[in-house]
Amino acid sequence: MDNIFYLQTKNTTYVLGVDKFGLLRHIYWGKRINRREFSLDEMTETNSNHSELDNALCEYTVFGGKMYRNCAFKCTYSDKCRDSVFLFKHAKQEENELVITLTDKVYKADLILHYITYPDSDIITRYAEIENHSSGDILIEKLSSCEVNLPGELSYNIVNTQGGWGAEFQQQSTELKAGYLVFDSRKGTTGHTNQPIFIAHRNADEASGDVYFGALGYSGNFKVECQRDYVGITRIVLGMSDFDFSYTLKSGEVLASPKAYIGYADGFADMSNEMHRFSVNHILPRSFANKPLPVLYNSWEAVGFDVSCENQLRLAKKAADLGCELFVMDDGWFGERNSDRAGLGDWFVNREKFPDGIDSLIKGVNDLGMDFGLWFEPEMVQRDSDLFRAHPDWIYHYKTRVNGELRHQLVLNLTKPEVENFVFDSMDKMLSMHNIRFIKWDMNRPFSEIGADNLENEQEIWLKHTAAVYRVADRLKEKYPYLQLEACASGGGRADLGAMEHFDSVWTSDNTDPLDRLTIQNGFSLLYPIKCMRAWVTDWNSDKRPVSIDYRFASSMQGSLSLGANLDNYTSDDMKKAAEYVALYKEIRNTVQFGDMYRLSVGDGGDYWATQYADENQSVLFAMSNAGSLDNKRYKRLKLKGFQSDKMYTYTVDSKRCENSGEYLMNAGITIEFCGPLQSKIVVFK
Ligand code: GLA
Repeated sequence: MDNIFYLQTKNTTYVLGVDKFGLLRHIYWGKRINRREFSLDEMTETNSNHSELDNALCEYTVFGGKMYRNCAFKCTYSDKCRDSVFLFKHAKQEENELVITLTDKVYKADLILHYITYPDSDIITRYAEIENHSSGDILIEKLSSCEVNLPGELSYNIVNTQGGWGAEFQQQSTELKAGYLVFDSRKGTTGHTNQPIFIAHRNADEASGDVYFGALGYSGNFKVECQRDYVGITRIVLGMSDFDFSYTLKSGEVLASPKAYIGYADGFADMSNEMHRFSVNHILPRSFANKPLPVLYNSWEAVGFDVSCENQLRLAKKAADLGCELFVMDDGWFGERNSDRAGLGDWFVNREKFPDGIDSLIKGVNDLGMDFGLWFEPEMVQRDSDLFRAHPDWIYHYKTRVNGELRHQLVLNLTKPEVENFVFDSMDKMLSMHNIRFIKWDMNRPFSEIGADNLENEQEIWLKHTAAVYRVADRLKEKYPYLQLEACASGGGRADLGAMEHFDSVWTSDNTDPLDRLTIQNGFSLLYPIKCMRAWVTDWNSDKRPVSIDYRFASSMQGSLSLGANLDNYTSDDMKKAAEYVALYKEIRNTVQFGDMYRLSVGDGGDYWATQYADENQSVLFAMSNAGSLDNKRYKRLKLKGFQSDKMYTYTVDSKRCENSGEYLMNAGITIEFCGPLQSKIVVFK
């Protein structure tokens, strides 16, 4: 029984063991079981076409021998052998970490699997390392972060997202009956389509049911591979994509996979709240993880590229009147950046727009009581820029190919140390000269023509580019501890837990239509923390689908409230309302950003949305009708969550002040009346 390992979290148990052949096998994952009662089953060959390994639940399947299913690891040794055999060498189990070392004795390589647990969480962090102790190179062709085996032989519903620019985080559920279901990105960044996550369940709902989930901490090419075999076992491998990937592991070198965060929960609410808390407590950069994010104003949608000291100060004055705490100047402030055709790479102030520099603007913003932030797109360059004229070879390219442009831009080769340093220096210079407290780091196109002839093995670019981005972000944060970083990639193209290990917030989507946004935010909230989710109130789609300012605020107040509307067009009534909403947000933002979240009614496919956020001090309900007519269905009875049964709560609905017990609110509920489409109600329970 010595070779059975138990991981105990608050409410879950994960068990693995080493069999008599030295194979590391999965045994159990699910509700917590306190007694150590597990053992390993024997495996026998079933017939000449199915090896005994078909039935084995492996903790980390490697390619080699009689293993025919999807694998988490593949490599080629220096003598061209492509067969991996990793058997148990030793294990080290400490209070919060189990480290299992598997070894290939012939090739002197160690595969090390890490399992980290936390006293305050049900999440298990997993990652893998490969160590080369031989004298030759090993070509690593796949190094996933983890593999999970789902219990039982019945099929699972697998949830991921299927989206695009402006429509990120659109949830999709697929029942995996046979074969493979794969979600990936080959774009260099996470992209807008699928997420590096999995959620697997049979009949779970918000309140209950077995849910297995995981998310990868990585913003580059990823792959989520779900496979159901002929006996019915569903396995999921999560990690960096192996597409066009390899890494030459030199003698003495170690390569670590990104971290994956996996969990088991009873229902979707449990799952989301567990991940929200875990991200705040263990993933986000420490400097701001536990502080509520400031209310931000960003001028992009108001003025586009046409920034000037005068219009920025005018907007800043209005933003300050509304209660904003951070003013961000977006694109357009640098180089010859008058449109999206020129300027990227020239990170110095445009003197036509700011003849005296930007210090007077920053001072003006600071005098209004706000911090100042600036937009960069540091991984990019344009042909029409001083940087490209000086360093045309700093982009990914092949000598024989013409580089394809997207938004007239090209991707800098960050695997060159001089380019990585340039990227750091360009932001460092601005930060050292000016009082800049926030950077929005944008990335507006995927890679193409990915040649990097500075690298011995060019297939390393995918990993090395992402690592360079993280390194620059970390260096900036280290040098400027007060600096807040936001990751953006044309909206939500880099909104993943990898970004959230290095950036304090993410931009979820360029689509700021308040109704579309409810779907996007809901998809984001499944596994990613609400507190990181910047949500702007704008004028988006005002001509196509008029929406009240109340609805716009109610939508954005369910994330990290920010403003992006053209305040020059706000009437005095709009300004008054907006200021009231900002003030209300400040009263509830701790609850929204750090509290538990309950999806009482999911509007997709229904006629209204109702989401509640609760902590020990207060609770807030956002109820919002969809665009369709509600006809005779205007009254909605909502059972609330998260109260203490014996406590009394006061709240106001439609100007009527009420008082009820927690048990009444949770069992009988309250009635919400919608008088028509696109109506919103915010109810605060004290
Ligand atoms: C991207 C971002 C926007 C804005 C523009 C500026 O589209 O997602 O928020 O910053 O770039 O060019």
